[in-house]
Order: sequence, then structure tokens, then C-alpha cells
Amino acid sequence: MSRTGVLVLAAGKGTRMHSARPKVLQQLLEEPMASYVVRALAPVLGEDVWMLVGHCADDVRKCFPGGRFVFQERQLGTAHALGTALPDMEAAGIRRVLLVNGDTPLLTPALVASFLERTKGAPLAFATITLDDPGAYGRVIREGGRGDGRVRSIVEAKEFDVALHGPEGREVNAGMYAVDLALAKELLPLVTCDNAGGEYYVTDLVELAVGRGIEVLGIACGADTGLLGVNTPGELARSEELLREARVEALLESGVVIHAPSLVRVGPLAEVAPGARLTGPCEIYGASRIASEAECLSHVVVRNCTVERGAVIRSFSHIEDAVVGEGAIVGPFARLRPGARLEAGSHVGNFVELKNAVLGPGAKANHLTYLGDASIGAGANIGAGTITCNYDGKHKYRTTIGERAFIGSNTAMVAPVVVGDDALVGAGSVVTRNVGPGEMAIARGRQRNIPRRLAGRDAVPPEEPKSGS
Ligand code: UD1
Ligand code: CA
Repeated sequence: MSRTGVLVLAAGKGTRMHSARPKVLQQLLEEPMASYVVRALAPVLGEDVWMLVGHCADDVRKCFPGGRFVFQERQLGTAHALGTALPDMEAAGIRRVLLVNGDTPLLTPALVASFLERTKGAPLAFATITLDDPGAYGRVIREGGRGDGRVRSIVEAKEFDVALHGPEGREVNAGMYAVDLALAKELLPLVTCDNAGGEYYVTDLVELAVGRGIEVLGIACGADTGLLGVNTPGELARSEELLREARVEALLESGVVIHAPSLVRVGPLAEVAPGARLTGPCEIYGASRIASEAECLSHVVVRNCTVERGAVIRSFSHIEDAVVGEGAIVGPFARLRPGARLEAGSHVGNFVELKNAVLGPGAKANHLTYLGDASIGAGANIGAGTITCNYDGKHKYRTTIGERAFIGSNTAMVAPVVVGDDALVGAGSVVTRNVGPGEMAIARGRQRNIPRRLAGRDAVPPEEPKSGS
């Protein structure tokens, strides 16, 4: 069998999105649109997935490290796009091309596999879907205007004319094609840009092939949403919602307990284990992993985090590139920034922020605290309002706090600084020197009580100083 390679068309600007971001990098559940297409194709076609890039090509390349790219300098239309990639693909030994629009994020491996199966041996074939409103899609014209008639042509929406093409049907071109490379090479030079869009349409290959007596297969995929294209913000939102719904359904099926499921958003790369609990609204994105018996409550946002068994992320916490160990508690209203690691049974409470900081097993920072570039030992207690002063305007420095240490409220730890195991720092201290293990440090102004002067009244006599104060 001739070797089949895939070409994903991802060079266009996506004018109808009205955005500076190239369309194929528009995000659905925080992953770029084209990555959905690539994930649907790779299980079926392995390594032979090529991507045609053009508009903001470097940004697109960056999103697919290790990908194979062909550069289309000017986006003159989908036929020009195919023509641009053919020489490289042919040189790589590919003889048949599965051409897929990069703006079909709902594509599934099953759909790709069945399309390939049904088009085996056909020199040219394409998938069709049936829509209530054919909108901007290319219309499929068949002999006798019947669904089972032979395909005659695809007519782009802009060119469609009832007088010329007969009554409008609901079957449209879905933007996925299988074509023998030899046939594409023969017909592409015949495609012109003499049309309403002034572009070279790949869909013109159909009529050209039919004109040469070649039967072109229009593979009807019915109302399958897997091939819906995204051209506008409205279509992006609808496709994202379909993906979201499908993912939440699958998680429920697998045994994740989800409260308010219509408000839960889980990205395609995130894993949520059966037995985990989620409460909407909440969002879990990137390569996150939520273990069984772990819990994410409402208004929580999780990006690229590991949340171990029995850990609870309470409401309104935002956590990113962090690890929350077994049975640890975060929030409400906590923020874990990249490099935060909470070991088993540790607690981070309200208005606490951690960045590049490790909280040892059972350690607690429960209120109003910033721990940046810090290591906190097991069982340590970080009082309310503790701040690690980790930045001197030029460099970052570490704070190390030992096991079972007790840091009093409203303490500033001026890094680099080390507080030993079992040490105690008095409330309100500004700690600039190391504190040894088992030592107590108080670094604050001593309290003085003096008479207060009040206008028109005698001075209040000072209190007798208490002995030992
Ligand atoms: C295309 C089809 C239409 C079909 C629809 C399905 C053509 C002419 N029309 O229309 O029949 O119903 O898809 O969704 O093909 N691209 C390039 N280089 C270019 C031009 C486009 O890479 O020079 C890429 C775009 O980035 C996009 C894809 O090709 O990912 C399709 O282009 P788009 O402009 O979205 O085509 P449609 O108008 O949707
Ligand atoms: Ca499109």
C-alpha cells in the first residue's frame, strides 16, 4: 500500500477571528486549536504528520516541538497550500496525502480511521457533513441533486448560485481529503484563482478530477460534530463547549464525583482519577494530575499541578506548576506559583502565596503570608503576616527555616537567612541574621510607654513600669 502522510493546513491568518493570534493557536480549554487536530491524527498515522505554517509561523512551530513543518510564504488558498507541501512530502516517500484543515479541533482518531478505511483505493475523496445551516462551508453538488448521486463538484459558499448549481442542499465539505499525490500533482497546476475569493481553492480539484472521468468519493459523515470548522469567535466558543461537555461526561463515566458539572472545565491533557471530587465552577488545565480522593472546590484554577491523594484545594485558590502532597490543604484564597511544593499534611491558608518554596510535611502557613525561594522544615509554624524578603532589587535569595521552628506573626525574613530546627522568632521581627537551632530571636524595637499630651487636659501620669518588661 502507498504510504500515507497527513498535511494539516495551519498557515492561514483566520481573518474572521479578528485577532492578532493565528487562528490555529486560538485556545480551547487552554490548548491551541491545532494541537487537538494533531492529537486526533497521530494515533492513526504516527509520525507522518506534517504541518503547513505561514502566518506567525514561528509561534506555531514553537507550539509543536519536534513537528515537521512546511512553510507557505503567502497564503494564496488551500490548493496553493497543498501544492506548497507536495515536493517535501513526495521527497519523504509519501504517495498519498490526508489533507486536514487545521481549524477542526473536534476531530477524533475514530473519525480519521474510518475515513481512511472508507476511502481506500480512491484517487480523490473528501468527508462531508450535513448541517441545518450550511453557512460558509463549501456545498457538495451531486448528480441529480440526490445524496446518493455521484459527486460532481464542491462549490464554495461565495460562488454558490441556485441558477447554476440547482437547489441548495445541506451536505457540505468538511475539510478533510484523501488524495493520491500523483493526481494532485497533475491537477493542481490547473486550479485558478478566478473566483469571488481570489484564492486557489483545493475544492476545485473535485470538478477537475470528475472532468477526467475519475470518480470522486464524498464520504458522508452525517451530523458528526467531529468535523465542525472554526472560523469565528462564536464557532470557537461552541466547539470549546462541546469539548468541555464531552470531557466532563467522560470523567463522570469513569468515576469522578462532579458537583455542578456544567461549570467544570478540564483541559485535554489533565488527568483526574476516579474517586477525585470536583465542584464547579472550577478549571483544571495543562498537564495536571488530580489523584483519587483529592478534591478541588469551587472557583479553583489549577494549571500543570499534581494534587496527591486526599489533598483539598479550597475555594478561590489558584495554583500553577505546583505539587500538593498527600492530605495537604490549600486555601481558601491561596496562591501557589511555579515551584511551590507542599509535602504531605502541610497547610496553606487564606491569602498565602508560595513561589519556588517547599513546605515540609505537616508545616503550616495559615494566614496572610508570602514564602518565596524558601524551604520550610517539617512541622514548622509560620505565623500570620510572615514575609520572606527574597529580592534585593537585583538578585533572589533563599530563606531556610528548620523543622518545628516557630515564626511569630508579622515577621520579615530578610534573605539569605537560615533559622535552625526548633528555633523561635518573636512576632514583628525583622530577621537579618541566622538563628541557630533551638535559639530564640527577637528583632524589633523595644516598647516604650510615655505620657500622652492631650490639648486642654493635664498630662496622663505614666504607668509604673512593670518589673522585667
Ligand atoms: C474550507 C473549504 C470549504 C469547507 C471548509 C470546511 C476551501 C477553498 N474551502 O473553507 O469547502 O467547507 O473549509 O471547514 O478549501 N490555509 C492555509 N493556507 C492558505 C489558506 C488556508 O494553510 O493559503 C488553512 C487555514 O489556516 C485553515 C484551512 O486552511 O486552517 C482552511 O482554510 P479556511 O480559510 O478556514 O477555509 P474555509 O473558508 O473554512
Ligand atoms: Ca475553515
